[in-house]
Amino acid sequence: MLIIPGPASKNLGEKIAEILHQPIVNVESKIFPDGECYVRLTGDVKGERVVIVQSTYPPQNLHLVQLFLMVDTVKKLGAKEVFTVIPYMAYARQDKVFRLYEAVSIETILKILESLGVEKLITVNMHEPKVLQKFRFKSLNLSAVNVLAEFFLKLNLEKPVAFAPDEKAVKMVKEASQILGGTYGWFKKERDRITGEISMRVEKKFKVEGRDVVIFDDIISTGGTTATAVKMLKDMGARKVFSACVHPLLIGNAYQRILENGAEQIVGTDTLPSNVETVSVAPLIAKALQENDSSEKR
Ligand code: R5P
Repeated sequence: MLIIPGPASKNLGEKIAEILHQPIVNVESKIFPDGECYVRLTGDVKGERVVIVQSTYPPQNLHLVQLFLMVDTVKKLGAKEVFTVIPYMAYARQDKVFRLYEAVSIETILKILESLGVEKLITVNMHEPKVLQKFRFKSLNLSAVNVLAEFFLKLNLEKPVAFAPDEKAVKMVKEASQILGGTYGWFKKERDRITGEISMRVEKKFKVEGRDVVIFDDIISTGGTTATAVKMLKDMGARKVFSACVHPLLIGNAYQRILENGAEQIVGTDTLPSNVETVSVAPLIAKALQENDSSEKR
């Protein structure tokens, strides 16, 4: 196996290679004055099973094109198999037609990867992983929830509650509560498809008074969802409120917004670089690659 840490995921790719004791082929990359990007591999990949690690956080269009160029190049150079690890999958939130005549962006991105010849794909807490099943490549959507929950377990929280800011995140809090202590809750969230404005309400009464609450979400983008949930939980009498997030994009003033609303701390993973990068998904991805490798050899 050969690991290629793409320009967007150099550190994470190196960590994965180190855990697996596998060689690396680095990528030279640059941006031309007109904004076009260039990539060049620094070694041969002929006959190899290649793992390209490239997260597609903002600027996502650049990171996607770099990924397409790397996949096409390793194919052309005769790699035996191409495995793409895309820890943060851009465009995954546009996974269906919400308004008539709009693009289903994630399908287009995955179609490109399929047509380039990707054989296997690993991602982490993809917003809606069901779409992956429409494609020929083998795919695996890993969950970083346990890694995040284990971090909070070490903090000895007061009667912890795992909380979902919307119904979509309930699956995550169920998983987290297995580690944190069995209790979870959720809000009901609605987003205006045109303005992007969110409204959140309590659908069911959850006991959070005097307890420490950890909000779990896959993505923090503008911070609106988490900030609103933090404020509501504080108003409901929570003792301390924390935010746990797999992909902390933290656009603009998202970080300040969440803390100003009363959060103690934002804890993120390293699927993308951020100032809240606290736990690593490298062991999780390495384990999945290793398991795939052993099943191939069987
Ligand atoms: C949406 O359903 C996602 O799970 C996140 O809750 C959302 O993307 C967060 O966006 P923002 O931080 O802009 O509210």
